[in-house]
Amino acid sequence: MPVPTPHIEAKKGEIARNVLMPGDPLRAKYVAEHFLEDARLVNQVRNVYAYTGTYKGKELTVMASGMGMPSIGIYSYELYKFYDVDNIIRIGSAGAYTDRLAVYDVVLADSAWSQSSFAKVQNGCMDDVLYPSESLNTRILDAAHCLQIPLKTARIHSSDVFYTEDNVDGYKEIIKKHQCECVEMESFALFHNAKLLGKNAACLLTISDSFVTHEELSSLARQESFENMMKIALEAC
Ligand code: ADE
Repeated sequence: MPVPTPHIEAKKGEIARNVLMPGDPLRAKYVAEHFLEDARLVNQVRNVYAYTGTYKGKELTVMASGMGMPSIGIYSYELYKFYDVDNIIRIGSAGAYTDRLAVYDVVLADSAWSQSSFAKVQNGCMDDVLYPSESLNTRILDAAHCLQIPLKTARIHSSDVFYTEDNVDGYKEIIKKHQCECVEMESFALFHNAKLLGKNAACLLTISDSFVTHEELSSLARQESFENMMKIALEAC
């Protein structure tokens, strides 16, 4: 398929090989304005902003994914397949399932478990656990180490549903059966597309709420904690 694609209006060459992907388009704008040099807006279809600029002299794109697996599934597929993107690092938020993870903690996904039909519908893949790129994860761990920012690794739950009822397995059952330590809504689809297309994906998360303590970060606190995750992601690129 030639570019532009149905969902991205950027021209060929306007998207870098390394992409940082927050869920929220305004987050993408914030990152571009505060961290990138010479950032220019290259996509605004459906307000899913993408900016390409440089960080420490290296070209980088920051583009929103929207919420949920159908959304990140579309954008990551088009970026990998039609824009020759090699690496996508998701930078998102998650809810903690265990007291090992507290609000403000930054977590690197070492695997994603999901009940999602995304992989099955996409190409018949029946796996319910998918993995990030080992080399990208190593770069991220090295970057965190250099920056002296604590980073915990965990299996994450990629959920299709934010609001669930009591008649389905709650988070305690999910920990017991699947060893997930926090929940978000995108990485399983991102990891699937990366594997499918021979590309690299990773997922960094800031804990924004806890199922254990019922704490929740204010929007200001979210912003501040987000900066640590950003620094790690940018340095890893
Ligand atoms: N992202 C941040 N908190 C979340 C939660 N509680 N569930 C799903 N995704 C999340």
